[in-house]
Amino acid sequence: MSLPQSRHPLRDLRVRLRHAGRICVFSGAGMSAESGIPTFRDAQTGLWARFDPMQLASAEGFRADPAQVWDWYAMRREGVRQAQPNAGHVALAAYARRHPGRLRIVTQNVDDLHQRAGCAEVIRLHGDILADRWLDPCAHAGAADAPVCEVDPAAPDARPPRCRHCGNLLRPAVVWFGENLPYDALTAAEAAVSEADVLLVVGTSGSVWPAAGLVARARHAGAHVVIINPQATEIDEEAHLVLSATAARMLPRLFDPL
Ligand code: APR
Repeated sequence: MSLPQSRHPLRDLRVRLRHAGRICVFSGAGMSAESGIPTFRDAQTGLWARFDPMQLASAEGFRADPAQVWDWYAMRREGVRQAQPNAGHVALAAYARRHPGRLRIVTQNVDDLHQRAGCAEVIRLHGDILADRWLDPCAHAGAADAPVCEVDPAAPDARPPRCRHCGNLLRPAVVWFGENLPYDALTAAEAAVSEADVLLVVGTSGSVWPAAGLVARARHAGAHVVIINPQATEIDEEAHLVLSATAARMLPRLFDPL
């Protein structure tokens, strides 16, 4: 059964947002596309069109060729550092400042553009590309007086750096294929979407789970679900409204004061 469409969907949505107690934005790679960071699944420019995700975004791929994966992340990190928040990030941050406590952001993005625009509290489901963590638990863990992993000071620029004590490797602090989402972030995200009166799903293909399941969760909990994306997504049927538009164009129209 299709819902009757409003003749003024944008105006109605602005009114709905004005009266919403809680708004949640669930963002994906398209949120940062207009900042110059490539998406993953775009047929022409997407990261996975040019590279094999299993080679570059899995623990197996990293163990097979740590230097190749480290270099690929170094390239992406440089792209993130060079990028600037776009008008969509800025509109959300400005709205959050004007209405403390009303807007929550859950992102699949590993860049920090929401934060650099001024949104302090962002729930990050897939980690932080600018941070590192150790690949394995420390080989000495549990032993009395065991050293904790430390980057070898003799080779701080190794690709990747290693632990001076046990040879453990540093890796990017992102969630790779086959890995669990951070428990705290997933729990916080589930609460944020469940409590939202309006969920705006911005720039995600909706094809990666369990993140994509947050949209159905929000809808079942009673949220009004709106998708903002210039292309069709795998979760369009979950939405009450689909706005075919880009993040940087649509979010200022929704959130900037008249
Ligand atoms: N504004 C809004 N949406 C856009 C824009 C834009 N300017 N440009 C592209 N899009 C949309 C595309 O139409 C597509 O639906 O962004 C979406 C990007 O989809 P994906 O590349 O699949 O990215 P995402 O949904 O974030 O992927 C989820 O998959 O590989 C993993 O960990 C990675 O976090 C990522 C996850």
